[in-house]
Amino acid sequence: MAQLRISVIVGSVREGRMSLPIATWVMDRVARRTEFAAELLDLADWALPMFAEPYPPATGRYTGEQQRAWAETIGAADGYILVAPEYNHGMSAVLKNALDTVYAEWGRKPVAFVAHGTLGGARSVEQLRNVTAAMAMAPLASAVHLQGAAKLRDGDRFNAGEIEDRRLSALFDELLWWGRALKAARQGD
Ligand SMILES: Cc1cc2nc3c(=O)[nH]c(=O)nc-3n(C[C@H](O)[C@H](O)[C@H](O)COP(=O)(O)O)c2cc1C
Repeated sequence: MAQLRISVIVGSVREGRMSLPIATWVMDRVARRTEFAAELLDLADWALPMFAEPYPPATGRYTGEQQRAWAETIGAADGYILVAPEYNHGMSAVLKNALDTVYAEWGRKPVAFVAHGTLGGARSVEQLRNVTAAMAMAPLASAVHLQGAAKLRDGDRFNAGEIEDRRLSALFDELLWWGRALKAARQGD
């Protein structure tokens, strides 16, 4: 069976962010799974402008150069893992902006969350589930919630324990099921 293409999106751009070591861990573990072909999308590298295009992305009229490039990149994936911090009981603004910038390319595809924060990023994920469901995505029922993630950090590395690895592996399984199911359904359209 063909590999499922997934994008792992780093949901923070601030200096010293925790999201990057966590995303690096996700990339390392997903690379061990032959069913996936994964790409890291670092929003710090993308530096998408705050959405200010003349047309709502749901119209499919993309006028910005970076918007078009983002659409192509998002459209190439069969599913997503959002590494999501919690900022003031919600998702980070940069992640919301990345979601808002394009529309159809996300749709009918699964989205998984690896979240972190005092309560494991729980409130951020609840918001993300609402937002992504409204964008015709399929947010997964389970998520990886990392509490006290900073204690497992060693510079650029996130030293996950057995529990975190097991939870992430279960998330990959769920993402694979939905990813394959929805890909087949899209191909049958
Ligand atoms: C602007 C801001 C707001 C935050 N608000 C919350 C919050 O409401 N709940 C929480 O659990 N953590 C909160 N935190 C802590 C972050 O979850 C924690 O710093 C996390 O590492 C941020 O992700 P990042 O390092 O990848 O940017 C906040 C951090 C920042 C910078």
